Amino acid sequence: MKIINVFLAAVGLMALAGCSAPASDDAEMDRFVTDLMGRMSLRQKIGQLNLPTGGDMVTGSVQSTDLANLIRNEQIGGFFNVRDVEKIHELQRIAIEETELKIPLLVGADVIHGFETIFPIPLALSCSWDTAAVETAARIAAVESSVNGINWTFSPMVDICRDPRWGRIAEGNGEDPYLGGVMAAAYVRGYQGDLSGKDNILACVKHFALYGASEAGRDYNTVDMSRVRMYNEYLPPYKAAVEAGVGSVMSSFNVIDGIPATAHKWLLTDLLRDQWGFKGFVVTDYESIHEMTFHGVAELKEAAARALAAGTDMDMVSEGFLKTLEASLADGSVSEQMIDRSCRRILEAKYKLGLFSDPYKNCNPELAAKLTFSKDNRAQARRIAAETFVLLKNQDNTLPLKKKGKIALVGPMADAGGNMCGCWTPTCKPENHKSLLQAMRQAVGNDAEILYAPGSNLYYDPKQHEVAAGWRKIEYRSDKNLLSQAIAAARSADVIVAACGESAEMAGESVSRTNLEMPDAQKDLLKALVATGKPVVLLLFSGRPVILNWESENLTAILNVWQGGSEAGDAIADVVFGFVNPSGKLTTTFPRSVGQIPLYYNHMNTGRPISGNDYFVQYRSNYLDESNEPLYPFGFGLSYTTFSYGELALSSDTMPKDGSITASVKVANTGDCDGTEIVQLYIRDKMASITRPVKELKKYQRITLRKGESCNVEFTLTANDLKFYDADLNFVFEPGEFELMIGPDSKNVSTQTFKAE
Ligand code: NOJ
Repeated sequence: MKIINVFLAAVGLMALAGCSAPASDDAEMDRFVTDLMGRMSLRQKIGQLNLPTGGDMVTGSVQSTDLANLIRNEQIGGFFNVRDVEKIHELQRIAIEETELKIPLLVGADVIHGFETIFPIPLALSCSWDTAAVETAARIAAVESSVNGINWTFSPMVDICRDPRWGRIAEGNGEDPYLGGVMAAAYVRGYQGDLSGKDNILACVKHFALYGASEAGRDYNTVDMSRVRMYNEYLPPYKAAVEAGVGSVMSSFNVIDGIPATAHKWLLTDLLRDQWGFKGFVVTDYESIHEMTFHGVAELKEAAARALAAGTDMDMVSEGFLKTLEASLADGSVSEQMIDRSCRRILEAKYKLGLFSDPYKNCNPELAAKLTFSKDNRAQARRIAAETFVLLKNQDNTLPLKKKGKIALVGPMADAGGNMCGCWTPTCKPENHKSLLQAMRQAVGNDAEILYAPGSNLYYDPKQHEVAAGWRKIEYRSDKNLLSQAIAAARSADVIVAACGESAEMAGESVSRTNLEMPDAQKDLLKALVATGKPVVLLLFSGRPVILNWESENLTAILNVWQGGSEAGDAIADVVFGFVNPSGKLTTTFPRSVGQIPLYYNHMNTGRPISGNDYFVQYRSNYLDESNEPLYPFGFGLSYTTFSYGELALSSDTMPKDGSITASVKVANTGDCDGTEIVQLYIRDKMASITRPVKELKKYQRITLRKGESCNVEFTLTANDLKFYDADLNFVFEPGEFELMIGPDSKNVSTQTFKAE
């Protein structure tokens, strides 16, 4: 009640100040913002460009700021990293009631895969290939964020990544530009809706650009790349987000052409605005302006001036704009128009969000209590999580398990509760998450017995364990008998389920790894379990591809459950016991060796390709000691049922430039249960003005077939699907011969050729 009164008072005050509820079209917005800016001093305008952290959630080095003071002094356009709804409401109230201009604040947060109802990490979500599911997840995240006062999320992260050493591979959609693009658009739709609704929040596509190509997979490292590669392989997902209407863009930490992205005019203005037509605002990443000093490019004042001139509008944490722009204006390093331009973009975003007429939008503790982590939201998270799991091996149809006899559940992730949720969850409450052990016991009831033993720590070294266990604690167990207790449980069981792999803190920001094998203690546990002779099912927890050569040979079944969110326990139990049939397919290649990285399906052929699975052929592009092949290719994933693919047919053997070609294939469910298959279409441009990938995903369909059912799957391609950026960066259609491939994954395809004319 108190809040409603405060809100009404605020609206009244805004009306007095001339901020009446604006209409929605662009001309009206223009008039409104022009009028407001006409009443703003230079200092107030610069204040709008400043974005400090509240420090309740720690996502970088500076811990906290006196936000109330900054707001009263009109030195702030928004803030982020404040957790509590009442606190956020109070800060917004100060802006509306205790400042001259009463400009509402943007309230940001890293809501990356859910607010409190946590969905699987984005890499996992992409493995569902289900854009509707991703949109639903983003929509639920938006509703929960909005009632908790957040009106801006730093998501989607759409950096293409081909290097699983980089921990942030967990936050993106994998290695494919087309899939990355459709996923990017789904996130934007889910978060933003039409922006103005009470529970719509502003999205922020990041990290612009190319952050996923950090050298050697080391976070924050240098990036260097040709424009042709950028345009064809790395930029499409960002562009798709812009086309979907994303309201803000975050510049990346890395350099491009030796220039930090935050100060890169070609990137932030020529490409983003002039070529792509982006109309929103650009925010830096955490302290990126300040970091330009460490890049060896400029001290704070010059860095801020260069960033502003290049097209950066809002400064996250550095306070470079706040502290130096007045001086830079005085000495002519920046112009007033540049400051006005950025201020206008930020005010326009606030206007589009509807903040001038409704500054609190949905921010309301009562609503928050009702709509956050609700039963319905959690049911969706459970359903969607189960769609993301990828069945990598299932010898003798060991999975699904029968709910009978004795099942040994071992491994450090088996009773890890809140740690299963994943890497980017500063807003989650891990204490509310069910562990896998609880979920499996609940699923079997009295029909079967679950014998639990942790078996090992994450690592042998307590310090390494401690770092990996993070704040969602997995306690280090110093018990010398850990392994022997697990073996005893395993021996008396009919089947062993091992919950092993990466904890939440072993993926995400600042978590690069050079060794991608199963951590030492867990690997030894798996070996000892195999030695019992009992079937061993690995539930693989991971935020990235793990090297699984030994596991794939020696274990009976492997289900990759990633980091599955707050409902992971129940979702895993659903799949393990066969209530849900797994349907996820990999969107990231699983290598055999770290030495193969970067390894990705859509590579070029080279002038000296090898054929087939040859290990070593002299004077060919290959390795002396390892195959070129991945362990599990892009697009791969099994099901509890089987699907057969009929003959691939094309509607014609030519495709006119202005016409289309249709490919069709009959897909049948030939196994014993209903299931969902992801049918994938790839093309190869055989001869072009520049070298083209050996395969490129162009279309796919998720189809659900009942046991015994079949259907004809059709895809239509037009010239647009065959275009690429040539050496001069023109998006061109080049006539010639194309291979068209359809199959259940990127390796296992049938091929037909056609001519495009
Ligand atoms: C740094 C990360 O790179 C970025 O993704 C995140 O949004 C910001 N910190 C804010 O927490």
